[in-house]
Amino acid sequence: AGACGSGGSNSSGTTTSAAKGLDFDASTFTEKTTTITTAGGASRKVAYRFYGPITYVAKSVDAKYQSLVISVPTSIDGKSVDARNAPIVFANSVGGYMPASVADSTGVGESQMTGMGGGTSSTATTSTSAAPSTSGTEVQSGGNSMLNGMGKMVSIPQLALAEGFVVVEPGARGRSLTNSSGDYYGTAPAAIIDLKAAVRYLRHNKDRIPGNTDRIVSTGTSAGGALSALLGASGDSDLYTAELTALGAADASDTIHAAGAWCPITDLEHADMAYEFCWGANPYTSTIDAAVTKDLAAQFTTYQKSLNLQGRNGFGPLTADTYHNYLLDQYLKPSAEKYLSGLSETDRTTYLKANPFLNYTGGKATFTWDGFVDHVGTRKKPAPAFDAFDLSLDINNLFGEGTQKARHITRYSQDHDTTGLEGRPLATDTTRRLNQMNPMHHIAEKNPHRAQHWWIRLGTKDSDTSLTIATNLAASLSALGDQVNHLMYWDQGHGSNDDPADFLTWVHELA
Ligand code: DHB
Repeated sequence: AGACGSGGSNSSGTTTSAAKGLDFDASTFTEKTTTITTAGGASRKVAYRFYGPITYVAKSVDAKYQSLVISVPTSIDGKSVDARNAPIVFANSVGGYMPASVADSTGVGESQMTGMGGGTSSTATTSTSAAPSTSGTEVQSGGNSMLNGMGKMVSIPQLALAEGFVVVEPGARGRSLTNSSGDYYGTAPAAIIDLKAAVRYLRHNKDRIPGNTDRIVSTGTSAGGALSALLGASGDSDLYTAELTALGAADASDTIHAAGAWCPITDLEHADMAYEFCWGANPYTSTIDAAVTKDLAAQFTTYQKSLNLQGRNGFGPLTADTYHNYLLDQYLKPSAEKYLSGLSETDRTTYLKANPFLNYTGGKATFTWDGFVDHVGTRKKPAPAFDAFDLSLDINNLFGEGTQKARHITRYSQDHDTTGLEGRPLATDTTRRLNQMNPMHHIAEKNPHRAQHWWIRLGTKDSDTSLTIATNLAASLSALGDQVNHLMYWDQGHGSNDDPADFLTWVHELA
C-alpha cells in the first residue's frame, strides 16, 4: 500500500495508516526558555517544550499552512509545572481571512499571518510580549498581535503559556492562495476546515498530547475571531465531513469547550445590511451612495426581526427600532463608565472637555446614538462594506472559487454587479459555503455539540463591521443558555484586547 507516495489524494491509504501518520510523538521537542511580561506587567521566566511544526492532516494540500505547533510549560519562575491536564489554548493567528502559517515558528507566539498591507505580524521571539507602544488605537490583527489599552502588544499564546496552559498554534489556508493552475485553494471554507482538522488531530491524540483535550479554548481576532466563534459554534457538524475526509483529517471529534472571539468579522452575508444600520450615518473617505445605505438598512430591519432575539438583562426584543438603544444601554454607556472611572481626575476632566457629547455625572455616562456615531467619525468601509459591486473587497475573494478570484455573496450585490457577472448565479454552493462560514447558522440549528462558553470582545470605535454582529452572536448564544461574557472596550479600534488578564482568569475558571 505504501507505493503511492505521500500526499496522494486517492484512497489507497487505509484509515489505519492515515491515523497512524497522525499519531503525536511526545518524545520529539525542543527545550526552550523565554521571559514573558504578563498581562499584569510582571516578568515570568518560562521553560517549555516546543513541538512541531506538525502537519495535522494525512493528505495535506499545503503543509506550510496545515501544520501546528505546541508549547507545553515545564516550569515558571523556577517552579515546575505539570501541564498534563491543563486547558489547551488554541490560538489561531488568522487575519483578513489570509493564510496563516507556523511553518517557520521556533517558539511560542511566532505564528505568521500574511499581512493585509504591512501589518504587525508577530515575530517576537524570546524575551518579551511588551513590544514598543504605538500611538493609535488601531492594530492590524492576526499574527496573534493585538493592542491593549496602553498601546502594548498582546500575544495570547505567550500570555497563556505564562499562565501554565498548553498552547497550540494552528496554521490555516487563506483566501489569497493559488496553485500552479491558478486555482484558489484557500477560499471558503478552507480555513475552518483546517482549524477543525487541527482540533481533530489534538483529540485523536488525547492520550499522547499534553493538556486536556476536553478543555480546548479557541482564540482569534477579527477574521481569526470569526473563525474562533465558528469553530465553537460548529462542533462536530456534518456540514464539513466531505472536506475533512478529503484531507485525511483524523477521525475524531472537533468540538471545543470554549471560544474567545475578538472583533469577529462574521455573519458575512448579513454584514452589509448590518453595517449600514450601524455606521450608515458616518462619513467615509469618498462618497457613499445614500440609496445603497437606505436599501441595506431596510434589509437589516427584516433580517433583525427574523432572528427573534431578546436583549440581555430583560431589555426586551432586539429589533431595528430598539437596537441603538440596546447598544447604548447595555454596551456603550457601561463601557464609557468603566473607562472614565479608571481615569485620573485630571485625565477625566480633559477627556470630558474634549468630548462634550458625553455627560458624566455620579458615575453615570449619558449620550445619544447620534452623539456616539459622530464621536466615532469616519467609517472604515464603503457601501456595501463587504460584498462590493465590483468584487474588489476581501470577502469577495474569500468566496472565490476555481480560477475565479472573487464572487458575490449577496443577491443585492449580485444584482448591482458592475463586473459583467450579471445573470450568473452566485458562487456555486453559495448557501452551503456561507453556512459553513457562519456561526449564526449553527446557532440557529441549536447545534448541541457547540462550545457553551464564550468570550466576545470588541472596541466601540471598531467600524470594520457593525457592532450588531458580535452583539447578535452573543444574544443568540445566550438564548440557547450558553455562558456568554461580552463587552466592548471604550474608544478602542479594530483588533484591540484591553483585558487579556481577565480572559486568562476566565480560562482558569473554565478548567
Ligand atoms: C479583517 C478585517 C476586515 O475588515 C474584514 O473585512 C475581514 C477581515 C481582519 O482584520 O481580519
